[in-house]
Amino acid sequence: MQPHRTQPSDDNFYAPVSIADDVHWIGAFDPGLREFDIILKTANGTSYNAYCVRGSAGVAIIDTVKASCADVFFARLEQVAAYHEIRAIVLNHLEPDHTGALPELMRRAPQARLYLSYKAPVMLKALLKCGVDLDDLSFTTTDTGDTVSLGNRTLRFLHTPFLHWPDTQMTWFEEEKVLFSGDAFGCHFCDERLFDDRCTDFGHAFDYYFQHLMRPFRHHVLAALDLVEPLRPRLVAPAHGPVLRHQPERYLARYRTLAHTRLALGEEAKTLIIFYLSAYGNTARMAEAIRAGAERVPGVRVWSYDIQGCEVGAFVDLIESADGIVFGSPTINGDAVKPIWDLLSSLTVVDLRGKLGAAFGSYGWSGEAVPMIEDRLKRLRLRVPETGMRVKLIPTDEELRQCTAFGLKLAQHLVAPRDRPLWLDAMSGTLRSSPVSV
Ligand code: FEO
Repeated sequence: MQPHRTQPSDDNFYAPVSIADDVHWIGAFDPGLREFDIILKTANGTSYNAYCVRGSAGVAIIDTVKASCADVFFARLEQVAAYHEIRAIVLNHLEPDHTGALPELMRRAPQARLYLSYKAPVMLKALLKCGVDLDDLSFTTTDTGDTVSLGNRTLRFLHTPFLHWPDTQMTWFEEEKVLFSGDAFGCHFCDERLFDDRCTDFGHAFDYYFQHLMRPFRHHVLAALDLVEPLRPRLVAPAHGPVLRHQPERYLARYRTLAHTRLALGEEAKTLIIFYLSAYGNTARMAEAIRAGAERVPGVRVWSYDIQGCEVGAFVDLIESADGIVFGSPTINGDAVKPIWDLLSSLTVVDLRGKLGAAFGSYGWSGEAVPMIEDRLKRLRLRVPETGMRVKLIPTDEELRQCTAFGLKLAQHLVAPRDRPLWLDAMSGTLRSSPVSV
């Protein structure tokens, strides 16, 4: 599918676009972009959306564009405002695709005051460290409810962090009920017809963008929706992709759907998932024993997958919904095997903080795989409460019993109250609750 494209030779290529009373789109199209931030595919290019809002007492510019698109941005801006009229530059997000033209805009409109989230100055400092001292900058930090007046027009700020950086905020244009949403509700989809009801269908790009940028921050997405849904925006103006004017509440509702965990696993049961590969069946036997141990714990459901030959992407949703994840790998050439690393590297799109993690595996000589996996799990912010299980070559019956106990302890961490841990009765092989201290 190819979106509609306007070439620079078109008469209206540099024309700003009116999107509401006193609001113009003054952004830039980037139809040739094929990768964004290295990790995102942009088969349909993208746009960097910036906006100009006019009031009786001055003009506000909301976001800028990538540095390489600055000329187009300024060409559009100059058709709707003079630089001396600009009293506010609102930075909904400081990533360079929205602040690339900021230094030059500040030079052209030195009287303008910057408005940015109270979490953003540290980033502003890093962004402008070439030749600009923060002490010399005229900026105001904002929180939910703060406003800037343009005379007969008012912009109100909404603190919406982590959509998808700590600095992100949204800006609400009260009189026209326009929500300038930053990256949120955006997508990498270049179509110069600009409005959602005129563009080629971009639903796939909208979902893809959410899954790769917003999904790790789903709780922040839900908090932001709680702020913006009651406003009932007439138009949502994101920082990328089409401007959303046809029943914009549909896009908010889509975010709410996407932000909820995909699998309904039940309120009560905890889920522990074991992923493993096995070169000679030894790590597989360990996996079976660990599973058997974990299954002894009431309230924990245990799933195990041999991921040999699997497309690991299919497991990302499962992992997002799980409470604990256990990885089993033999050590081959001093490393865990590639499918395990493929799976671990697929997890940057989900929030793993606080989940339980563990590793195990059989080895021949040195057994590096287990500590390497554990290190990766810790860096992904999982808690790793038990030292991984390592077995040299073929597990003995005693070592399999240790694997069973290992699985049982992992499951116990998922259900036991922190102040009253369970313990394994060696005689009976069952779990018991510690007595309450008095
Ligand atoms: Fe579009 Fe996070 O920058």
